[in-house]
Amino acid sequence: MPDMQVSLVAAITLDGKIAEVSDQVSLDWTSKEDKRFFVQKTKEAGVLVMGRTTYETIGRPLPGRLNIVMTRSAGDFTNEENILEYTAQSPEEILNQLSSRGFEHVVIAGGSQVYSLFVRAGLVTDYFITVEPILFGKGVPLIENISPTRLHLVEKKMLGEEAVLLHYKSL
Ligand SMILES: NC(=O)c1ccc[n+]([C@@H]2O[C@H](COP(=O)([O-])OP(=O)(O)OC[C@H]3O[C@@H](n4cnc5c(N)ncnc54)[C@H](OP(=O)(O)O)[C@@H]3O)[C@@H](O)[C@H]2O)c1
Repeated sequence: MPDMQVSLVAAITLDGKIAEVSDQVSLDWTSKEDKRFFVQKTKEAGVLVMGRTTYETIGRPLPGRLNIVMTRSAGDFTNEENILEYTAQSPEEILNQLSSRGFEHVVIAGGSQVYSLFVRAGLVTDYFITVEPILFGKGVPLIENISPTRLHLVEKKMLGEEAVLLHYKSL
């Protein structure tokens, strides 16, 4: 595995969901402070990796960053080099390629399938999780089908009045 910081960045409900349904526009229930944090983190890294479903809820590449979209049908889409790149590569291959292109930090931006793939492969070094004051009672989980994984809390801070940002590291 390349020597890279791999940051999983997500906003969750208090009951651990990232969306009510998978085609929901991701951030219509999150705080403006969390949106600001997401922009800052992804700009700092310069690159974010997301699943096709998440990309389609956003609908356009996020400016000023390389947007990598995971899909098993990468050949059906048109890449815009250094802006929007579709890939069917494995998480390991994606990180190796980004590392060889000079990236030292990458944000894994979801959704659940993509978070789970990177965590399952043991590739995530940092977790930046914003807990928003809302319950869905159903919906898309942050991560699923992984083995129990212990983490180490590095930092906690308020984002605005009611959301809490937690930074954990892998052991
Ligand atoms: N709250 C948050 O912070 C946050 C962040 C991100 C997303 N979300 C929400 O999460 C939801 C989407 O999550 P999701 O789990 O349904 O979908 P997702 O992870 O965004 O995307 C799933 C897609 O990724 C591709 N994919 C999955 N595994 C792959 C592999 N091994 N190789 C290549 N491509 C692969 C497939 O695309 P193809 O079908 O094209 O093959 C699959 O359909 C949305 O509602 C979004 O708003 C929330």
